[in-house]
Amino acid sequence: MQFSDPHSYTDTEQGKIAHILFWIDVDFSAKVLKIKATYRLDEPVSGSFFLDTRDLIIDRVYEGDQEIIWEIDQHDSIVGNRLHLKDLDGHSEFTIEVTTSPDASALQWVTPKQTAGGEHPFLYSQCQSIHARSIFPCQDSPSVRFTYEATVDVQRPLVAVMAAELIDSEHSGETSQYRYNMPQPIPSYLFGIAVGNLAFEELGPRTGVYSEPEKLESAVWEFAENEQTIIEAEKLFGPYLWDRYDVLILPPSFPYGGMENPRLTFLTPKCILGDRSRANLVSHELAHSWTGNLVTNATWEDFWLNEGWTTYAESRITEVLEGDDFSQLYAFVRRKIMLKVMERFGMDSDKTCLKYSQRDIDPDEVFSVIPYEKGSSFILQLERSVGREVFDAFTKKYIATFSFQSLTTEAFISFLEQELPEAIERVDIDKWLYAPGYPENAPALRSSLIDDVEVRIDAYESGMLPSTHQVAEWISAQTRLFLLMLPEQIPVEDCRHFERVFNFRDSLDYFTMNRFYQISIQSGYQDVLPGIERMVESGGRIAILAPNFRAMVKAEWTRDKARPMFERHRDKHHPTTVAVIERILSKAGL
Ligand code: BES
Ligand code: ZN
Repeated sequence: MQFSDPHSYTDTEQGKIAHILFWIDVDFSAKVLKIKATYRLDEPVSGSFFLDTRDLIIDRVYEGDQEIIWEIDQHDSIVGNRLHLKDLDGHSEFTIEVTTSPDASALQWVTPKQTAGGEHPFLYSQCQSIHARSIFPCQDSPSVRFTYEATVDVQRPLVAVMAAELIDSEHSGETSQYRYNMPQPIPSYLFGIAVGNLAFEELGPRTGVYSEPEKLESAVWEFAENEQTIIEAEKLFGPYLWDRYDVLILPPSFPYGGMENPRLTFLTPKCILGDRSRANLVSHELAHSWTGNLVTNATWEDFWLNEGWTTYAESRITEVLEGDDFSQLYAFVRRKIMLKVMERFGMDSDKTCLKYSQRDIDPDEVFSVIPYEKGSSFILQLERSVGREVFDAFTKKYIATFSFQSLTTEAFISFLEQELPEAIERVDIDKWLYAPGYPENAPALRSSLIDDVEVRIDAYESGMLPSTHQVAEWISAQTRLFLLMLPEQIPVEDCRHFERVFNFRDSLDYFTMNRFYQISIQSGYQDVLPGIERMVESGGRIAILAPNFRAMVKAEWTRDKARPMFERHRDKHHPTTVAVIERILSKAGL
């Protein structure tokens, strides 16, 4: 099927990268990776070959002893720079030597002070959506897949991990050398590397944890059930095809909750709360092993195919592991958040559609919960239109049919037309995909855990504040839901009351508290400021920080405090987090 990727210079008519052999030297003092990459193409190429790059220093391009002529001949602030290899003469291989920039958008060079141990530096990559091109030249489109091998040199005692299979390691003198192999073909956004003072512990036959030694014990406890999660997911979606499922605990500046790098999910350390309350994060990232990593969106305009399907799959796993009451509560919370985001964008904004043109749009800028929750609601609507048994068979066939392939929204719909014509008749496909807003007939959610919260909201509306006793048994998602259902502005005394009954002064659960902080900012409750600063200082998750800064720039009393607060902590944050917050501040004229 023909389609074009607005976020890449890739021209697959020229040929495709099939395999890359990497030599990577990690230089913490210069904050650069020095990379030699030998590319093997799926067929001999003559003439031009285009690659995506951003902020890379290209040292040399050659094959054997023959230099290849190249030029950076197109520039774009979002897509980056086009590396044009010229006059190829039936080449099916070439080598590029390249050095990354200290500001590479995919890499964060974390100082020792920002790690759990405090002694060693840490490096990690985050390539989704269009950042792999800041590490190595590539066809940085999710429609192109390649296998790879890598040799990574690091200073001892640092350990290099990759989202790939560890072959061996050698230690001599000052350096360690790690060898990795990725036998399953991946799109470039799933390339993953991290270096730090890392320890490993086995959890199960296919599962383990990498983390700094200081966090290892708590991480092992938190993720002890991962093997069981895989077993349940396999029953729903088919065999797990990536051999291992390890998790890597990153420093707190990681801009996301989790990233589904194959074989090695990258996780924020903030999900370790000592109560396994973030199990759904692993269910989500693991579910990407089928929806996303096996069956991949062809372009970032089809992002809902990755995240909507995965959110649906996450719900199904949660239903098995925790029960229906929990999975529906989580979906209900997501929906509330989504509706608020839609209101912010405007209910008729393109950005509320599952699919719309993203030409000249940076995927990081429009990242939101919409493709997740509107997408999974759509899949759930399809499921309910034909019944679970029929839909589960369809899901397995969908995954088996498109494994290790990429597809567009339109290709998904034609598969649906072919396999489930009844669903096409019963569900307004065009409305779900191409119309803005959220369909009124979206599938209903029911849970006694939601009911408990609604009782307290009704009481609040008639003037009764909840007591500590009344919310003592609540799980954090219920607290989050309660906060989401409160008015945007409330009396300052009520803020103080909620801070006490939910014990926010002693909590580290910023995922829940950030909504409380937002209401407090809007309501003028000034006592939260030190807590907010701690939140900005201690973690980099964009989904937590962005709403906070959006609220701060809007409210009179915090407006002037927003930029200085950000500047105090800017250097701790990841380039993507910095870009997102910077955009919020400068849009507000700050
Ligand atoms: N793949 C995403 C993270 C991502 C998306 C990074 C787009 C960069 C660009 C990951 O699977 C994800 O969705 N993480 C969520 C987890 C949550 C939905 C359980 C997150 O980090 O908030
Ligand atoms: Zn996801």
